[in-house]
Amino acid sequence: MRSEILRFLPFDFQWKDTIVYFDSIGSTNTHAKQLAAQGAPHGTVLVAGSQTAGRGRLGRSFQSPPGMGMYLSVILRPNCPPASLMHLTCAAAVAACHAIEAVSGICPDIKWTNDLVCNKRKLGGILTELSVDTRSGLVDYAIIGIGINCCQSLGTFPPEIEKIATSLQTITGKHIPPAQVSAAVIEALAQMDRTLLAEKQQLMTFYRGHCITVGKQIQLLRGETVQHGLALDIDDNGGLLVAFANGKTETVTSGEVSVRGLYGYL
Ligand code: BTN
Repeated sequence: MRSEILRFLPFDFQWKDTIVYFDSIGSTNTHAKQLAAQGAPHGTVLVAGSQTAGRGRLGRSFQSPPGMGMYLSVILRPNCPPASLMHLTCAAAVAACHAIEAVSGICPDIKWTNDLVCNKRKLGGILTELSVDTRSGLVDYAIIGIGINCCQSLGTFPPEIEKIATSLQTITGKHIPPAQVSAAVIEALAQMDRTLLAEKQQLMTFYRGHCITVGKQIQLLRGETVQHGLALDIDDNGGLLVAFANGKTETVTSGEVSVRGLYGYL
């Protein structure tokens, strides 16, 4: 499988020697954190055929059955303050959109902040995790984890997600091998890494243009608190500007945002 991924990458691809493949693993993000703590270099990529404990945002699980999807994490060491990477999840979402478009011809929408969406269903997701060096105050490492549903047909998703999930197979009617999707995502992440800080505004312009949350009525869940409002915009750090029903406007950076009309939220 590793050799299959390499076949889809340019011969002189800069992260070629640091791509590691696992048939099955708990979570590529969890293992990437362990490797990063042991000193694994910038550009280490972990790809898995399946995950037994795939993780999503807010402690959710990410279904990762064998042969059905693309599951990978990359370790970056950008050597900058964490405040410079507020837009990292958005930048990774943009990279994932480019990769998906390259292999399928279809560019997904993005649900703030980290869901890849097609035809109002979830195609994949992104989980970014940062570790800061307490002495320097700089980022020690950043992990970007991306999962994309590739080969499921409708009716094969588990009951808890069958009404909200989709796959590249379902959208395009074509079998797009996970190895090909992995290679496209790895290439797009390497490109993102080159432009992450210098081209932040262009990245965020693309993100804003593809984010279906903007202009929609939303429900924000933070802890036990539920608030309703209108999503107005996204700032250059990836924060969501919301006009709440109580008249206040706030930039939201955390919490679970449900979008009216999406994933069964009416
Ligand atoms: C989400 O839906 O909230 C994010 C899902 C992220 C899933 C990917 S799959 C590869 C990497 N390893 C994980 O455990 N999670 C991410």
